[in-house]
Amino acid sequence: MSTNWEHIDKCAKEWIKEAGERIHQAFRKTLTIETKSSRSDLVTNVDKEVEQFFIERIRQTFPSHRVLGEEGFGDCISALDGIVWIIDPIDGTMNFIHQRRNFAISIGIFADGIGMLGYVYDVVHDELYYAQKGKGAFLNDQPLPVLQSVSIPEAIICLNASWIIENKQVDPKQLARLVQEVRGTRSYGSAALEMAYIAAGRLDAYLTMRLSPWDFAGGLVIVKEVGGLVTNMDGEPLDLLGPSSVFVSKPGLHREILQQYIRK
Ligand code: IPD
Ligand code: CA
Ligand code: CA
Repeated sequence: MSTNWEHIDKCAKEWIKEAGERIHQAFRKTLTIETKSSRSDLVTNVDKEVEQFFIERIRQTFPSHRVLGEEGFGDCISALDGIVWIIDPIDGTMNFIHQRRNFAISIGIFADGIGMLGYVYDVVHDELYYAQKGKGAFLNDQPLPVLQSVSIPEAIICLNASWIIENKQVDPKQLARLVQEVRGTRSYGSAALEMAYIAAGRLDAYLTMRLSPWDFAGGLVIVKEVGGLVTNMDGEPLDLLGPSSVFVSKPGLHREILQQYIRK
């Protein structure tokens, strides 16, 4: 039986908007905040409730689909056969708590490991970025154009200050050179939004040392649909079952940054 992707897409969008409403309502209540692996790894009652909301809807409507969710309410997934939803109920929880903006709901839906549908919903600005494989990417129903290459001196790249710390992946001196040679740098604190901004042409590249599949699953489908490249720092495809470094960029720029600044 063939999969009705239009139906899955319609449900996903409805649920994302409903979850967005719940997040708006939560702003009026007191948050319960906990730390996970470190004092900067935060989770709130809203992250948990939103993940549970999606899982309930998915299980009722698509009982054969499986879910990999950041907060652990989904399935235990060790292989990507069948249809798998990869969900981050709130990407940018620190922003959600401290800034009340610059966070997003992120969902990628995969069939046998191939990204079919991707969503990044900026709840505060009511901006829904989404894509269906082969059908284009959109921002609130406006088609997003295919990405054009940009030169290093004209590029705005997104990276965070942790790059200045010695690390196993990239030589901070090479990145300092990159920072000096690009037009500008930005850091928003939500990987999903940063990837969506690349798809929308607001940023040209995004580099980060370690993300989990739920951070990049939605953005990956959207960025690829507009011709962007999504790899790890070695230029290899991302692992959807475990953590990776992540390098997202417009096509020509991807090769240039990898060859001239990242490869040792
Ligand atoms: C975090 C954000 C952040 C990234 C972190 C992620 P969370 O996700 O995407 O931008 O730098 O590595 O963990 O915890 O807010 O869902
Ligand atoms: Ca996240
Ligand atoms: Ca999260």
